[in-house]
Amino acid sequence: MKAPVRVAVTGAAGQIGYALLFRIAAGDMLGPDQPVILHLLEITPALPALQGVVMELNDCAFPTLHGVVATDDANVAFKDVDFALLVGARPRGPGMERKDLLEANGAIFAPQGKAINDHAKRSVKVLVVGNPANTNALIAQSNAPDLDPNCFTAMVRLDHNRAISQLAEKTGALNTDIAQVTIWGNHSSTQYPDVHHASIKGKPALEQIDQAWYEGTFIPTVQQRGAAIIKARGASSAASAASAAIDHMRNWALGTAEGDWVSMGIPSDGSYGIEPGVIYGYPCTCKDGKFAIVQGLAINEFSRARMDATEKELREERAGVEHLFAK
Ligand code: NAI
Repeated sequence: MKAPVRVAVTGAAGQIGYALLFRIAAGDMLGPDQPVILHLLEITPALPALQGVVMELNDCAFPTLHGVVATDDANVAFKDVDFALLVGARPRGPGMERKDLLEANGAIFAPQGKAINDHAKRSVKVLVVGNPANTNALIAQSNAPDLDPNCFTAMVRLDHNRAISQLAEKTGALNTDIAQVTIWGNHSSTQYPDVHHASIKGKPALEQIDQAWYEGTFIPTVQQRGAAIIKARGASSAASAASAAIDHMRNWALGTAEGDWVSMGIPSDGSYGIEPGVIYGYPCTCKDGKFAIVQGLAINEFSRARMDATEKELREERAGVEHLFAK
């Protein structure tokens, strides 16, 4: 067994938290030989519910769970952590404008970014799941000036996994037969699920699906899957979101498969003409705990227009929260 690592999860008493914590504790995220100490952050009124979750975690007697810290203090929650999954966020209430939503989330992610800056390990890997995930990640990053900006990422992996599953279902392939799918941009309905470089059983995906299905069914289905799940379940996706968060962190920490890539919301460095300084979904490979953008992919006009539209939305979101950035 390795030395334990510390993993912070915010919103730990919520729906995604309940689907996530047991899998992290069981070793699904970092492997069966990597013990973890969970640091769980909640708002004060949710602490009693969180205590119930802690009791259940303990009752599992997981071999890889070496401790649990439950707190409502971000400075305690992020102390010495190696990983932080920021799940807790303010949902959009009735009549709430996007501006109000960004503002309410700024009040959560600015102080959390500062607490991570002040207390986490310098090599911390942060994944923002709470929506609007890309811009919340930008707020946290912008309040952590002492950390490498690349410590902060946002989750588009659920969209990536949804795209794989839709392609597999359509073509009768297995999920493992699908490679090199990309989610560009924002985790919102402007995201662009791109299969121009994807393969199914080693052959180009676009030769195995028709363009009308790709444009008219596949893209909107992936873009609007979150809303479809809310409609069907009466609650937003939780287990699949938790599973995607585990996939994102596992690949970032332990690497991606040879010949494939994953989609991650990461700080743009200007690659593919995207404005630097937004957190944008890119195709990434990971090795030795670092991600790299897959370079040199041909971008046709169809893709360019969609990549630019989702970038525009992210620039607008950024303009709405810039006053929250640390000076
Ligand atoms: P939930 O409402 O069940 O749980 C959220 C939890 O966060 C609550 O227990 C709440 O008390 C806690 N919380 C609120 N403010 C907090 C703070 N300042 N510090 C710590 N905890 C805080 O929501 P659920 O279903 O677990 O979803 C969480 C977030 O994940 C939502 O923003 C949702 O939109 C987002 N989401 C993102 C996805 C993605 O693909 N990026 C997919 C699905 C959901």
